[in-house]
Amino acid sequence: MASVTSLSDSVQQHLATALSAALPDADSADPLLRRSDRADFQANGILALAKKAKANPRELATQVVSQVVTGDVIKDIEVSGPGFLNITIADRAITENLAARYADTERLGVPYAENPGTTVIDYAQPNVAKEMHVGHLRSAVIGDSVVQLLEFTGENVVRRHHIGDWGTQFGMLIQYLDEHPHELDHKAAEVTGEEAMSNLDRLYKAARKKFDSDEEFKTRARRRVVDLQAGDPHTLAMWQKFVDESKIYFFSVFEKLDMEIRDPDIVGESGYNDMLAETCRLLEESGVAVRSEGALCVFFDDIKGPDGNPVPLIVQKSDGGYGYAATDLSAIRDRVFNLKANSIIYVVDARQSLHFKMVFETARRAGWLNGDVKAYQLAFGTVLGKDGKPFKTREGETVRLVDLLDEAIDRATAVVREKDTQNQLSDEEIAERGAQVGIGAVKYADLSTSANRDYKFDLDQMVSLNGDTSVYLQYAYARIQSILRKAGDVRPAAHPELDLHEAERALGLHVDAFAETVAEAAAEYAPHKLAAYLYQLASLFTSFYDKCPVIKPQPPKDIAENRLFLSDITARTLHRGMALLGIRTPERL
Ligand code: ARG
Repeated sequence: MASVTSLSDSVQQHLATALSAALPDADSADPLLRRSDRADFQANGILALAKKAKANPRELATQVVSQVVTGDVIKDIEVSGPGFLNITIADRAITENLAARYADTERLGVPYAENPGTTVIDYAQPNVAKEMHVGHLRSAVIGDSVVQLLEFTGENVVRRHHIGDWGTQFGMLIQYLDEHPHELDHKAAEVTGEEAMSNLDRLYKAARKKFDSDEEFKTRARRRVVDLQAGDPHTLAMWQKFVDESKIYFFSVFEKLDMEIRDPDIVGESGYNDMLAETCRLLEESGVAVRSEGALCVFFDDIKGPDGNPVPLIVQKSDGGYGYAATDLSAIRDRVFNLKANSIIYVVDARQSLHFKMVFETARRAGWLNGDVKAYQLAFGTVLGKDGKPFKTREGETVRLVDLLDEAIDRATAVVREKDTQNQLSDEEIAERGAQVGIGAVKYADLSTSANRDYKFDLDQMVSLNGDTSVYLQYAYARIQSILRKAGDVRPAAHPELDLHEAERALGLHVDAFAETVAEAAAEYAPHKLAAYLYQLASLFTSFYDKCPVIKPQPPKDIAENRLFLSDITARTLHRGMALLGIRTPERL
């Protein structure tokens, strides 16, 4: 299906032609087109261009206006204020544009990016043998949406779930399991996620208790870490049990989140074990890293601790052990040289920003990152409780992600049940929709503010039908489906010959802007821009529906068909946009 030229691109082309006729010497003249409240579009670029050409802006604007070809797309163009251009689009052009989008059911005429590349995205990275908490929610939700957005623009996306599956605590766990071999044995083949977590939790607590109280066990546990890193087969097999058990749990949480995580994309810290020694050797030989008190370190001029002394990135500890940084540096080598990434995105808590700053700078010095390969931390803020403090349980513990999701689903289910006043839904349907609404609410609350900001986790607000929530958007979608069903034999059809109501024009112009919104949200890794767009789309639909009767009272057939068409393309845009955020749009609510 061919992509559709957006109205703003058409206007841009018309203006550029007129501009180069008026200013033949300017090599690139951007009219700076914006959507505006005063007209359909406003061009503010004339002022700067006039300044450059030492011309009077109003005169230049008038000259440009006289050069613009009006008729097909631009109905009207006039000079306003000191030299702005106000542009009105022809009704016919709006309807024809939407009709072309409507014909492309899959992509609504949204073009692919011009130069797609390969992006490796590091997201949804919980830790083995540990509960998932709200921080893991953000990484998963934001990461998944960025994946959808990038793939939609044609980018080749490689997903990497850099799970915490390596490190000293595994010595303790493995040693304990080795001494108590039946603790992870399953009676039945089917282990649920919750069961898997409670097994791990029990084991972790018991191992920790022994480790803290039994010196001999402690020594055995420490030896186990060495065995693990050396690749002793028996130790590795024990370790694998922990990883497998944890994955059962992770998959159950991701399933609850309605998110597809694929096993081959899970490449945890352990996956880079074989590269660690070489990474250190390369850094030391090139002089990027130096030995300092036995440790292999990288120093930075601008990174100092509170005492004014430089804080290094430690690549290898003085006892020979490798840590988080060595793993991340090895992962960069893998992503650049094996996966051939052009961009690497890390969806990780802002509290790890210093770590990534140092890791990226080190990789740049080593020549692994450069102008052709960029690394970027898509840093996210903290999830706060209603009181504005980091989200904790009443007992002051970190909130388990599953508890939070279950509560969201419960609340949403209650809302769905309450709304179903005529008892049309079966219990099963209520449960299914409750999950879609509840999970959608949690995702939307996370995605609708820009990632780097903290946000309050407030379930009452999240499942509210009024305001900037996913439920509001889901209802808008379901309402349109119900309108389409009620219309019976009258089917959606575009009628470009009809004059449009103001509310129809506003809605139509916004539907057209979907393509540029998606392009911008993808290029900036900013799902919140898409969320804001969708909220406005639903609001514009609401005012259209208030002002322009679609089926009751029934307007003349052509108007009814055209309004159904406007409704339907709004619904398709909502559906597509929500899918890019990872949120479902049920047909009925
Ligand atoms: N597992 C880490 C955590 O829970 C996040 C890993 C982030 N990714 C990375 N390449 N370091 O905090």
